[in-house]
Amino acid sequence: MQGKNEKEYKITDDIDRIMISSDELQSIVKTVAAKIDNDYPDPSKKLLLLCILKGSVVFMGDLMKAIRRPVEIDFMKVSSYGAGTVSSGTVTILLDLQRRDMQDLDIVIIEDIIDSGKTMSYLTKYLKNKGAKSIRVATLLDKPCRREVDFTADYVGKEIEDAFVVGYGLDYAEKYRALPFIGILKPEVYAQQS
Ligand code: IMP
Ligand code: MG
Repeated sequence: MQGKNEKEYKITDDIDRIMISSDELQSIVKTVAAKIDNDYPDPSKKLLLLCILKGSVVFMGDLMKAIRRPVEIDFMKVSSYGAGTVSSGTVTILLDLQRRDMQDLDIVIIEDIIDSGKTMSYLTKYLKNKGAKSIRVATLLDKPCRREVDFTADYVGKEIEDAFVVGYGLDYAEKYRALPFIGILKPEVYAQQS
């Protein structure tokens, strides 16, 4: 592993425990990348990795390096959460995808975590309506026990239990995104503010 490791990192007082180490994250990334390479074998066809800001940015950065076939990248920003830990359920597009070649695009949405499923359910329909050739979803984490709408991702890095997790791009109130591992936030950290 490069850079900060679990033991060196200083902002761990708010973390109850490490759920996924940086080594395990790297092996998850390799597995997902290999599946994507396998499912999109023709390098002459466009493949767009669509990173959903901000939580997916670290996963996206590692994944795009691990995928061997050529890819294009783009970004959307959506908001279904306020500052807290419970989904408001309303999906708002804060940064849209501006492309003229939608009908040529096989899109893999890169998501950090699927919880209620509302964000991905909305976004996949939205992109289909915009005319994308195909849409799949790769999520680093999945909390199937939290689903409120029926949604299944095509690539799931790891299924996790119902806990609020931070690190490797995921935040609580914009903090902890730079942690190199996935950690469980101590409930008292968000209990104070919600
Ligand atoms: P959904 O629409 O309920 O599936 O919400 C998914 C979004 O909620 C994710 O993209 C995250 O931004 C956020 N989210 C859900 N669970 C967590 C968590 O445990 N930690 C950090 N963000 C989360
Ligand atoms: Mg997100």
